[in-house]
Amino acid sequence: MDPVQVLSLLLALLLPLGTAVDANKHKRDTAFEIYKKLFEVKRKDQINALNNLIELNDVNQQYKIIDIMLKGLFKVLEDSRVILIAAGVQPDGPFPEDEKIKDAYSHTVENSAFFGDVVLRFPKIVHHYFDRNSNWNSLIRWGIGFCNLSGIFNDGPHTQLLGLMSQELGISEKSPDYKNPFKTENMEFLPNTDAFQKALREEEKKKKK
Ligand SMILES: *[C@@H]1O[C@H](CO)[C@@H](O)[C@H](O)[C@H]1NC(C)=O
Repeated sequence: MDPVQVLSLLLALLLPLGTAVDANKHKRDTAFEIYKKLFEVKRKDQINALNNLIELNDVNQQYKIIDIMLKGLFKVLEDSRVILIAAGVQPDGPFPEDEKIKDAYSHTVENSAFFGDVVLRFPKIVHHYFDRNSNWNSLIRWGIGFCNLSGIFNDGPHTQLLGLMSQELGISEKSPDYKNPFKTENMEFLPNTDAFQKALREEEKKKKK
């Protein structure tokens, strides 16, 4: 895949999977259980897309792609928060039935989880953008809290994700045995710091313009 393909794949993932679920026909629990299955499918797509981004093996391109992607991701999260708060949706309350609210709900849990994947796999790049953005910080704090109460992360393969991303982001205190599970697999950690520093300086130059 070339960088443009990787980017469009990642951006397409920020939108929810078309759900064929007619929540009116199901009780809350059924709708929620069905959504949990869709969530798993979406998570697999997200991880695959991120693997493509890792395989680009070009820190400069990864920089640019993550920059664009994070702007999109946090915009979606911000819009979703507005909708959920206006509708008074509680993360541990009934699963929403209204299409627009259901989309905002799935956007929130999917994009919060996705952001966790990105920060754990590309911590340096994400910190570079995230650490100076207090709006993103408050949005993801809200997102993590929402996810935590939703119950979607209580079982299955994502039970560690919220805790790990909170620690990596500095939202919760790092426990002494905290370890980023991706730290050895990721090219970003390879001693290719020259290329990284160069990409960083170029980014800085562009920001000043
Ligand atoms: C999730 O909620 C529990 C109970 O309130 C809390 O102890 C835990 O720290 C929260 N996890 C995260 C990642 O915020």
